[in-house]
Amino acid sequence: MHRLYFIIIPILLMLVACGGDTPDKKPVKKVKKATKEVAAAKSSLNGKKLYMTHCSVCHMPNGLGMKGAFPPLANTEWTNGPAEVMIDIVLNGFNEEIEINGDKYVTPMAALPHIKDDELAAILTYVRSSFGNESSAVTAEEVAVVRSRGK
Ligand code: HEC
Repeated sequence: MHRLYFIIIPILLMLVACGGDTPDKKPVKKVKKATKEVAAAKSSLNGKKLYMTHCSVCHMPNGLGMKGAFPPLANTEWTNGPAEVMIDIVLNGFNEEIEINGDKYVTPMAALPHIKDDELAAILTYVRSSFGNESSAVTAEEVAVVRSRGK
């Protein structure tokens, strides 16, 4: 009988020690940290992923477009201009004869209003900081403002 106590008591003590310590403090912190990291990873990943889904068919994954058909998104007056102009191009379409690096583009770009505010913000933030562009980030609020103005 005595021997059994020597085995059971330490086990009970260990259970109490673990049970009392971990659920209260450490896991809560860990979960919060993990959530933050996931959110950060998500917002930096989404822009590229969404660009691939919504824009790369025409503007190409490298943002260089297709000469004479789809304009590049690298260092153009639009990608380096005010965010609201880019937002307007995507939400309402674009139909102007433009010239970039000596190449003319005459085919219009269709409006893509189905892209959600936060998604478009992520896409445009990605475009404005990729392909050699160094323009400011775009927020979902800015997209909502342009959307509410209508065409
Ligand atoms: C179906 C093809 C197509 C898709 C998809 C498309 N575009 Fe365009 N885009 C065009 C064409 C064509 C033009 C030129 C329109 C014109 O000159 O009138 C253009 C022009 C632009 C311009 C202005 C010119 C420049 O090169 O700076 C921007 C900015 C732009 N697109 C961004 C985007 C973004 C961001 C997406 C994704 C959300 C997108 N486009 C999706 C075809 C497309």
